Amino acid sequence: MAKAPPSDELSVMHPFSTYVGSIERLVGTVVSSGLDGRSVEATPVLNGGPAEALRDTVDLVTRKSTGAFFSGSDLSEELVSRFTEPIDENSRILDPACGSGDLLLACSRRLPIASSLTATLEAWGQQLYGLDLYPEFIRATRARLVLAAALRGRWNASSGLADSESWFPGIRVGDGLAIPKECARATHVVLNPPFNLIQTPQGVEWSSGQVSAAAAFVDHVLAACEDGTNLVAILPDVLRSGTRYARWRGHISGQATVRRVSVWGIFDTWADVDVFLLEASIGSGSFESSMATWSGPNETEARDTLSSIAKVSVGSLVPHRHRNRGQWHPYLHALGLARWGRVNVADLPKKRFNGTVFPPPFVAVRRTSRPGDSGRAIGTVISGDRSVAVENHLLVVRPKDSSVDTCQQILDQLRSNATDAWLDRRIRCRHLTVGALEDIPWRDD
Ligand SMILES: C[S@@+](CC[C@H](N)C(=O)[O-])C[C@H]1O[C@@H](n2cnc3c(N)ncnc32)[C@H](O)[C@@H]1O
Repeated sequence: MAKAPPSDELSVMHPFSTYVGSIERLVGTVVSSGLDGRSVEATPVLNGGPAEALRDTVDLVTRKSTGAFFSGSDLSEELVSRFTEPIDENSRILDPACGSGDLLLACSRRLPIASSLTATLEAWGQQLYGLDLYPEFIRATRARLVLAAALRGRWNASSGLADSESWFPGIRVGDGLAIPKECARATHVVLNPPFNLIQTPQGVEWSSGQVSAAAAFVDHVLAACEDGTNLVAILPDVLRSGTRYARWRGHISGQATVRRVSVWGIFDTWADVDVFLLEASIGSGSFESSMATWSGPNETEARDTLSSIAKVSVGSLVPHRHRNRGQWHPYLHALGLARWGRVNVADLPKKRFNGTVFPPPFVAVRRTSRPGDSGRAIGTVISGDRSVAVENHLLVVRPKDSSVDTCQQILDQLRSNATDAWLDRRIRCRHLTVGALEDIPWRDD
């Protein structure tokens, strides 16, 4: 069901409206009296000004729960440069979660200008479409676009131009998960959706329960827009690399031609989340070739992967659910475990446990892992003759030949720079997954 946009008074973004008012006043002055001496004020408004004002006026908890993080101008430019079909005077461009319009601004830089500001705004108004739940953001988007047009032409004062609200009828308050028909006829879609968790929308088959809003947005864009529409999107890395989103990737690959997936890194200094850029066109998805694209070009180079010589599992003892029942077992947990070392089970503390236990030898790998760190998959060889209860912050890599030598080889390969670099490409989330470890290229040397 479409989300009801909040009324102006109730909007949690209301504190941001003072800043929006200041942009609207600046636009009014520039339009009626010309740019003279005002470029110093105009430049930050078209760059990081709104993002900074949002951080100053709206608390982090609200920004996170609404997914309100604006793309800087560098990232916006980069994203829009990824369209394979260039933007021109015939394009219709949609941002279904437009915030204060950074992505639409980057698109507008590729639109031609007409002989007057009025004619330019009229033309752009037929080409640019945007939705957001918050009226303050919609006002900011429209005002910034008018300012951008005013600066492009450096026209003289334009009398008779009403305030920015009357321009851009296609940019308005609305739910990006219920894209209206006139917006859906886009040739280009730019997307940096909210990343917060939402209830899986009705009718979605690739997920249930809580799901990233970003995954739902991409799915909805593919369903709502026409075949042939070009899509570029900034998305959280978990959609690219997380086991949880394998079905989503399969679904998207069936609905679109996924042209390129590129790891970008941290979104920005204030939103500590890794993102990737997706380039796709709706329709004619070739599932097989699209699936290869998600994981990056280098993955298929190795003939074997770690899964060909070892089985990877997650430790099964969850401390807060542990009931202290069953047989006594050596107990392995991540805290204080010797990095890259060897531990004999005889030296471990013991716990009662009636869940799955793991016979040595195996390599215990810490699940917590930060992209860019040296040592993404820090391991310890566990040897001995008693099965071990393993805490769930560890992954267990058991060689199929049950040999300690193979465990040592696994440890050496996990420790290599090549594995760090491979994992940095494969998984940007802070938790290693079974799938990511299983796919590590295995060099039998
Ligand atoms: C990550 S921000 C990106 C904004 C803009 N596209 C950019 O790149 O700067 C996501 C935006 O989605 C908006 N949003 C959240 N839920 C939405 C929904 N259901 N429909 C439309 N917009 C939504 C938020 O208010 C926020 O402005």
